[in-house]
Amino acid sequence: MSAPPRTVILTGAGVSADSGVATFRDPQGVWAQYDHREVATPQGFAANPRLVHEFYNARRRGLPEVAPNLAHEAIARFQAEAAARGGSAILVTQNVDDLHERAGSEQVWHMHGELAKARCDGPEPGTPGCGAIHPWTDDLGLETACPACGATGGMRPHVVWFGEMPMLMEEIEAALAAADCFVSIGTSGSVYPAAGFVHAARAMGVKCVELNLEPSENAYAFDDGRYGRASDVVPAWVREVLGDS
Ligand code: OAD
Repeated sequence: MSAPPRTVILTGAGVSADSGVATFRDPQGVWAQYDHREVATPQGFAANPRLVHEFYNARRRGLPEVAPNLAHEAIARFQAEAAARGGSAILVTQNVDDLHERAGSEQVWHMHGELAKARCDGPEPGTPGCGAIHPWTDDLGLETACPACGATGGMRPHVVWFGEMPMLMEEIEAALAAADCFVSIGTSGSVYPAAGFVHAARAMGVKCVELNLEPSENAYAFDDGRYGRASDVVPAWVREVLGDS
């Protein structure tokens, strides 16, 4: 296999698992410990904002304790090499961590937002607020003031909750339509719209490759699959497509 000229890569929690970041749906995963309706929906935030802040504060505090693994590094190398060869490799992630950036990926499309950013949604949950988005490393709480408008009570993590529209959807759809290859890495294929990318890509004749610990729910839809830990299979795939193994 040679390096496809235009590739779209989608990553999920499995790419960060070898860095020690918990996945969601594995037996020890986040959703085995928390009810996603309580901590990852607008309704949950309206009902108990302190609990939701606590959940995301703990995850934000954990970011400096983890480091990118060989899979993140291989993806960054693939992106740089694809660009150097006159192609492109657009990286779309469902992950809210910053491990792709720290591995050297220059452009990362965070379709589920970023833990390291906060947004002002206004003093009442669900009201528009000033909408400003800020880089954020500290804890967030009801008392946190928006650095732009000064309002308190409306700051929230800049993440996408269940029931909200993921970010960058138009850009992602356009990138898939222009792609030669779609590579899905470390995602269970349980959450739409990301779970539908393989079907959309396939319908447009885009070659689809799955790299995952084990076949996902959508494995049947891919043209090719490599299974094992991301820190093994992703560098191996990158070496193979770049022709240096
Ligand atoms: P999941 O937890 O649903 O799936 C993780 C996938 O990674 C599974 O297919 C595992 O088999 C695989 N996996 C586990 N360890 C791995 C390893 N070491 N190497 C490679 N693969 C491994 O996580 P996501 O698919 O990312 O959304 O979940 C998608 C979305 O659901 C998340 O963004 C989050 C969640 O609820 C929101 O919070 C809105």
